[in-house]
Amino acid sequence: MSKEKKPILNELFESRNKYKELAEDIDKEEFIKVVKSRRSVRVYNEEPVKEQDMRACLELALLAPNSSNLQQWEFYWVRNQEKKNKLIDYCLGQPAAKTAQELVVAVARPDFWKVNQKRMLEKIDAMGDKAPKSARKYYSKIVPLAYRQGFFSIRGYLKKLAIEIRGIKKPTPREPYNKKGMSVWAHKSTALACENLMLSLRAYGYDSCPMEGMDSKRIKALLGLKNPAEISMVISAGKRAENGVYGKQVRFDNKYFIHEL
Ligand SMILES: Cc1cc2nc3c(=O)[nH]c(=O)nc-3n(C[C@H](O)[C@H](O)[C@H](O)COP(=O)(O)O)c2cc1C
Repeated sequence: MSKEKKPILNELFESRNKYKELAEDIDKEEFIKVVKSRRSVRVYNEEPVKEQDMRACLELALLAPNSSNLQQWEFYWVRNQEKKNKLIDYCLGQPAAKTAQELVVAVARPDFWKVNQKRMLEKIDAMGDKAPKSARKYYSKIVPLAYRQGFFSIRGYLKKLAIEIRGIKKPTPREPYNKKGMSVWAHKSTALACENLMLSLRAYGYDSCPMEGMDSKRIKALLGLKNPAEISMVISAGKRAENGVYGKQVRFDNKYFIHEL
């Protein structure tokens, strides 16, 4: 038998898993309705979003898939009227913010790899003997290897050099290796959670609009956030006014975007 080392992810996760979670039956027509009726709403009516609904939708946002399950996001539901007025101003007073019943700022947290690595290791420790060794190895060894970039990303660039050499001969995971890469890493997962939030709002009977037309520096100061936290987008919520959607949904032909090889 060959003693060749297995690729790291296979080594970590294959076999021995006894956990079972059956896929639930879904009413696909209802899901399609949610997806198709989600529109970016620019004018909301006066109807409030129920507090418990908003909370439920935010909780559903947190169920989005995310890189290494490190949950590199934060959601600030701005409820204080004074702060809300400032946030509307920092969203350039656009109607999607001005007429909104609720406003949520989605924040990407590249630094959360470390915060949540610690939390995950604590969870793993709490499982005692039941904790899979592979999980401990992943969070204690692989996660720092992948996400620690070091001072001025020096460690990241050294890693990049090693990656380039290794990558000549075999498939090798390449990103992230610098600050910019960590930013992309955090924004990807945060954006998925944002979509969960917007679809959840629709499923609860509300509407939403994502906004990046905003002053991210001022919003960061409003929330008391410092680097490397980055504002991903602001999401407004409420129920659409009669003239709340600006026109029919426009998408270009599928052929430009869906490629089958
Ligand atoms: C990241 C992101 C930023 C956006 N920023 C704004 C914005 O600042 N203001 C706005 O009115 N719409 C904004 N939109 C909404 C888009 O214009 C909208 O999604 C697009 O026109 C497609 O329309 P639909 O969402 O109704 O399908 C943004 C959407 C995304 C995903």
